[in-house]
Amino acid sequence: METVLVTGGAGFIGSNVCEALLKKGYRVICVDNFDSDLYDGKIKEGYIEKLIANQNFAVYRTDIRHKAELEDVFNKEKPELVAHLAARANVRNAVKDPYPYISINIEGTLNVLECCRDNAVKNLVIASSGSVYGNDPVVPWAEDHLTGEPVSPYGASKRSAELLAYTYHRNFDLNITCLRYFNAYGENNRPDLVPYIWGKAILDEEEIEISGDGSRERDYTYVGDVVRGTVLALEKPLGFEIINIGNSNPTSLKDLLEIFKRVSGIEVKVRSRPSNSVSMEKTFADITKAKRLLDWEPEVTLEEGVRRLLTWLRDHRLEKSV
Ligand SMILES: NC(=O)c1ccc[n+]([C@@H]2O[C@H](COP(=O)([O-])OP(=O)(O)OC[C@H]3O[C@@H](n4cnc5c(N)ncnc54)[C@H](O)[C@@H]3O)[C@@H](O)[C@H]2O)c1
Repeated sequence: METVLVTGGAGFIGSNVCEALLKKGYRVICVDNFDSDLYDGKIKEGYIEKLIANQNFAVYRTDIRHKAELEDVFNKEKPELVAHLAARANVRNAVKDPYPYISINIEGTLNVLECCRDNAVKNLVIASSGSVYGNDPVVPWAEDHLTGEPVSPYGASKRSAELLAYTYHRNFDLNITCLRYFNAYGENNRPDLVPYIWGKAILDEEEIEISGDGSRERDYTYVGDVVRGTVLALEKPLGFEIINIGNSNPTSLKDLLEIFKRVSGIEVKVRSRPSNSVSMEKTFADITKAKRLLDWEPEVTLEEGVRRLLTWLRDHRLEKSV
């Protein structure tokens, strides 16, 4: 039985990755500091609650910025594979306070790379982001697209982590795949993201806010598809690659709202608010490379994904107040 260490394993995507890996028969080591800086750490405890009973699952409350502690976990658990998802997310917050984005997303990633090298890990997958492409209007974005003009320190930190990772492949022959995720949504959704905020407001019959005229487009990608791509990448060492994982089907906020209305059957009240200058106009992944190298493409339509998100929210919001 192979051991996979998942950093950020209690977060939105990480908890779904841990669950999928356990279902596939891996031993899974979740490393997470359960901070409450972006959203309440108790919510993350809830996301992995049902996994705790599994004897192949272990949790370490470790901060990836603390190298000695991270080394202890690697030395004890000896993972063959590593999925590095721990990061400070949220594009807008990064503009206000960039420091944690540098210390966690860059220096924390450096610690993970060092531990992977010292432990001769077979394959490392790093969560990167479509935000490395900045606000480039030329779409769709393929992996060799320019990445020199990110809009926020978050995108800059993710691109920096990719560059750092490349040097560990080049100098130490580590297998590393950086996956550029695009606008994930679904079960265990991050509470600061639009699909969660809207879904919760709709179920609570509250007014929802739409940014600007609602024309901004996002490449919303169902978390189950993101997880499948992540597991495929983990199971296939490729030397060094950067691969987009996105739906490749951008949807405007206006159209997303129509989908929420249709799926929920609830007529929502909508208020417009000024749009944020940090936001990108459109995100759009070219997924030719993911198809070619990982045989991956998205399977869940936005309509079906929103249905699953609303079902999850209905089941969890009352009992857990997430
Ligand atoms: N959600 C998206 O749409 C999206 C898009 C692009 C990239 N990503 C990337 O995917 C990864 C997962 O994102 P998510 O949406 O699940 O976010 P998340 O905030 O839910 O998950 C990140 C996890 O990392 C943990 N973490 C943060 N700092 C840590 C530290 N110093 N030490 C240990 N653990 C720490 C957090 O507690 C959290 O559980 C991140 O790397 C993020 O940048 C996400």
